[in-house]
Amino acid sequence: MGERAIAAEARQLVKLFDGKRAVDGVSLTVPEGSITGILGPNGAGKTTTLRMMLGIIDPTSGSRSLLGHDRPLEAARQVGYLPEERGLYPAMLAAEAIAFMGALRGVPIAEGRRRAVALLKDRGHENWAKRPIRTLSKGMAQTVQLLGTIIHKPRLIVLDEPFAGLDALNQEKLEQLIRDQAAAGITVIFSTHVIAHAERLCERVVIIAEGKAAFEGAVDEARGRLRPIVHLRTRAKDGPWRSILPVRAKQIAGEWRFELPEGGPEPMLRALLDGGAGIETLSIERPGLHDAFIAIAGEAAARAMGQRPPEEMAS
Ligand SMILES: Nc1ncnc2c1ncn2[C@@H]1O[C@H](COP(=O)(O)OP(=O)(O)O)[C@@H](O)[C@H]1O
Ligand SMILES: [Mg+2]
Repeated sequence: MGERAIAAEARQLVKLFDGKRAVDGVSLTVPEGSITGILGPNGAGKTTTLRMMLGIIDPTSGSRSLLGHDRPLEAARQVGYLPEERGLYPAMLAAEAIAFMGALRGVPIAEGRRRAVALLKDRGHENWAKRPIRTLSKGMAQTVQLLGTIIHKPRLIVLDEPFAGLDALNQEKLEQLIRDQAAAGITVIFSTHVIAHAERLCERVVIIAEGKAAFEGAVDEARGRLRPIVHLRTRAKDGPWRSILPVRAKQIAGEWRFELPEGGPEPMLRALLDGGAGIETLSIERPGLHDAFIAIAGEAAARAMGQRPPEEMAS
């Protein structure tokens, strides 16, 4: 990754609520210009971690820095934050709501209005500008709030579960907005309990489970922790070839599924051929982030994410 500046850092953050450890020693580093995903099931401690990093709440112990400030609120004008619980004034016009959010971060209101109209126009939504928030759908209101998050041209944006409540089309648009921000050099941190978004967007992921950072690093590194998976159908039911199957091989609807044995594909292929397996179909796949997540955070966390493929539930 080279010598990249650090946009945000958490060091051993702990937060107790009524004696209960909501966050239990989370450390993480966000390089400038990266898209970093905070992954974890509901209740894992993602929101609490983000709030501490932003300076909205103080940690019980540990420290953090945000754009070089040890007191994160000092960086507030350079930071955009989309909280998990959305809220806009229902009577406010969309463009006013965006300008208002900008004003809170130091943008003069007239300038904010101009920027708000331009931001809406860029996305083909100029007709929303004069509509009261209460007349917008939930997804539309969320888009408005998101534009309010970037109106002051922050260097860093923190989006807490930004995909929640959006339909597929709007999720795709949001992914594009996040990519556009990153392409413009803006650091993006977002939390999600949907692994696919992180897999598509992130350079780095932090997996939080039960208040602890179970993994921090590149998506590829998380995936690289697992061996590739072999999918195999054979004509022969039994025979010497079966010795190549690891103990943990599973048979799902007539297909063998197992981790690629040490030694790689070639010795395995030879054993299958020489052992008379009669290969019908064979594929070797790199595991996705979902499988890596299960391996790293555990089955329970993966189940809490509601992400298990149906076939695995059946087996
Ligand atoms: N203000 C609070 N007071 C008491 N408990 C809280 C508060 N905020 C969060 N918690 C608890 O801390 C844990 C982590 O919550 P949270 O950070 O919101 O998780 P996530 O965002 O990953 O779903 C949960 O058990 C939650 O109930
Ligand atoms: Mg949360």
